[in-house]
Amino acid sequence: MTDKEFPWYDGGWLRCYHSARQYLGANDVSALATFEQQMAPLRTRRDFKPLLMKNLIQDDILTALKTHLSLMSEDDMDPTEFFSFGRLISTDVPILDELQEQLATVVANACKEKVERNYNFLSLYNNFGICEPHMDAPEAKWTLDICIDQSEPWPIYLSDTQEWPVPNPKTDSDLDWKSFILSTVQFREYTLMPGDALLFSGSSQWHYRNRIEQRHSNNYCHLAFLHYVPEGCRKRCRPRRWASLFEQPGLATLPAIEDYISEYESDSKE
Ligand SMILES: [Fe+2]
Repeated sequence: MTDKEFPWYDGGWLRCYHSARQYLGANDVSALATFEQQMAPLRTRRDFKPLLMKNLIQDDILTALKTHLSLMSEDDMDPTEFFSFGRLISTDVPILDELQEQLATVVANACKEKVERNYNFLSLYNNFGICEPHMDAPEAKWTLDICIDQSEPWPIYLSDTQEWPVPNPKTDSDLDWKSFILSTVQFREYTLMPGDALLFSGSSQWHYRNRIEQRHSNNYCHLAFLHYVPEGCRKRCRPRRWASLFEQPGLATLPAIEDYISEYESDSKE
């Protein structure tokens, strides 16, 4: 399997998934059935609709988040996606962990399943802000996108909930598959104001933001992303755990999984 297949953001995860299925199918059919059954909760039901929650975040929490941001220096932030997304990222923010815990019940009620916390981060988009069309790996099955502050409203576009895992695109051209998705899938625009939150299925809905509009000398949008997964599913979302979870040591040496671990999970705390 090459990186021409599933050429988007969560493509590495999907290559792991399909490689594991292929390996188990060839070596242990009953383990394949277990694998499929364990992955089933990562699918999002097709009738799920995103939910825009106006003023979900109380003023005192919003103020605390803004204060936290104002006290940070650029050295405290991860610049990895400065050029690709036009953003700096901040992780390990205690106030965000607390907020995510508090909102777990709200998310569970809205998506109608029990959930547990997964990763979170602050995303500080700047003048170059953009978010190309993509889906995320199942670690972001439920994404709560919170607007903290912005120079102007900056719409996000969401598709309907798609069948998961989505099939490989017919073309291997980077430009063509994006054009194909944008021209064949229906999107709806959502606009958030500070304090608003948007719940959607990051792993089953295509989503994107156009380049941030150049209306001021400093255009920005500061967001918090809180991710949740079905209760009990955190470990099975992570390809590095599959060899031990399914008692299949061979899974650890599949090239797709080795590549994924070295790119995304080498410093994982779990
Ligand atoms: Fe995303």
